Amino acid sequence: MWIRAAGLAEIPAGGSKIIVLKRMELAVFHTEEGYFCMDNFCPHAGGPLAEGYLQGCVVTCPWHNWSFDVRNGSLCHNAGVKVPVYACRVTEDAVEVDLPG
Ligand code: FES
Repeated sequence: MWIRAAGLAEIPAGGSKIIVLKRMELAVFHTEEGYFCMDNFCPHAGGPLAEGYLQGCVVTCPWHNWSFDVRNGSLCHNAGVKVPVYACRVTEDAVEVDLPG
């Protein structure tokens, strides 16, 4: 189910935003490869990933510096640890996220 997450102007390139949709707190990132969405909770201790440091397609959690690839949610030093991710698409003026119905 595609749901509007934000206007394109709300998330500048290299930026991120916390979005709450369907009672889910999500992090939407705008990278040079496009928009990506994942849960906003770091699996280590719940840090807010949207408030982390984004470099390329890697976000570093602001609490204890675990780094995740925002394209697939994988922890960079252990691909077996993942944050749930959700597909994004761009419409004329917004980014939409595909959430489970
Ligand atoms: S809560 Fe994210 S690294 Fe600890």
